[in-house]
Amino acid sequence: MKKIKINGGKELKGSIKISGAKNSAVALVPASLLSDGVVTIDNIPNISDIDALNEILEYLGAKVTREKDKMIIDQKNLENKEIPESKAKKLRASYYFMGALLGKYKRVEIYFPGGCSIGARPINLHLKGFEALGANVIENGNKYIIEAEELKGNNIYLDVPSVGATVNIMLAAVKAKGLTIIENAAKEPEIVNVATFLNNMGAKITGAGTSEIRIKGVNKLGNGFTEVIPDRIEAGTYVIAGALLGNNLKIENIIPDHIESLTLKLKEMNVPLEIHDDYLIISKTDKMKKVNIKTQGYPGFPTDLQQPMTTLLVGCNGTSTLEETIYENRFQNVPFLNEMGADIIIDKRKIHINGPKQLVGKEVIATDLRAGACLVLAGLKASGTTVIKDVEHILRGYENIIEKLKNVGADIVLVDE
Ligand code: EPU
Repeated sequence: MKKIKINGGKELKGSIKISGAKNSAVALVPASLLSDGVVTIDNIPNISDIDALNEILEYLGAKVTREKDKMIIDQKNLENKEIPESKAKKLRASYYFMGALLGKYKRVEIYFPGGCSIGARPINLHLKGFEALGANVIENGNKYIIEAEELKGNNIYLDVPSVGATVNIMLAAVKAKGLTIIENAAKEPEIVNVATFLNNMGAKITGAGTSEIRIKGVNKLGNGFTEVIPDRIEAGTYVIAGALLGNNLKIENIIPDHIESLTLKLKEMNVPLEIHDDYLIISKTDKMKKVNIKTQGYPGFPTDLQQPMTTLLVGCNGTSTLEETIYENRFQNVPFLNEMGADIIIDKRKIHINGPKQLVGKEVIATDLRAGACLVLAGLKASGTTVIKDVEHILRGYENIIEKLKNVGADIVLVDE
């Protein structure tokens, strides 16, 4: 069992380079199978979620070549077959094979996806979208058979601006007959990344990044190229590390607009921050003011940074409030932070963080990916030694987290015992 051990309290100095975005890459890789040719995706993060998708692509007959952070995928010998439960449940993003295979072959057999256990995470909107395009969905326990004689464009309103449903419907609609309009679409930058890639292969998508996406069906998608955008959640996590322990810590390869909801909050808290074109410099202060934060879809404060942010709020003067509006069960990090010395009260979908409190190293468990990131940050800040168990969750989403933090002065190791 892998564990992360951290001796906390070390100043962070130097530079951290941000990798390609997990939540873009995990959509781009399945999207690639809509091509009948060869596609290249650059700046792929080296994380286990990508390995799991690679495995599914190869199982379907694609030829995948990985050279450093480049992935070249040849789809010429692809075959449509059932994706087994053991492969689908390794990660959330296996659901993108639904839209991609349905769009390409008009039929898909797959199981309910896996991913972090942070709420119910239904896929009803994805299925509703496929049905609106003319598909028939058969649900048999955990298994889905989705097929259509013909996919036809339609107007689809999403009850919630779901990232997954927006991308999945785009994937299913690129080769449908006529025009599809997704209303109340999610606006996350990852969606723009996927639409740009599909357009590069020959799709006709406009409006990605706004709440109305228009997709004009085409007959064929050919060769394509794209680059994964920088990971705004990884960036945000290290920016928070800088606010906790930084001495002019540089966070490189970022798109500052993508993390503005975070940097504006940090400014409100008095955190010393200099923002440049594609990097920022951040330092800690002991004069942090309390803030109130509510998670929202982009450009609001991302739910994926809510747990890492909690660690920072522990050190603020006064009571901060954090409201989680996206997932019902994303406070599993809180009991561990409290064991480490925080004073956080859970009140339904809100937490109240009474600060400032000093954290002390303890043995804790990463219950999910971002809870794990929160505990890594807590371990970096705490006095003494923190041991984090179940770190596989963290390695699913953060490329080289140990090396990146070690390089800037953290005392952190991955142990296998
Ligand atoms: N929802 C429904 N029905 C659906 C789909 C979603 O009710 O059919 C609800 C969800 O229950 C949730 C809300 O809509 O309350 C938003 O969910 P969304 O579909 O946007 O989330 P997702 O696509 O499953 C992606 C990321 C998450 C990230 C969210 C929100 C991937 C693989 N996952 O999930 O990333 O939190 O968007 O931005 O892209 C993470 O990286 O730690 C992570 C959980």
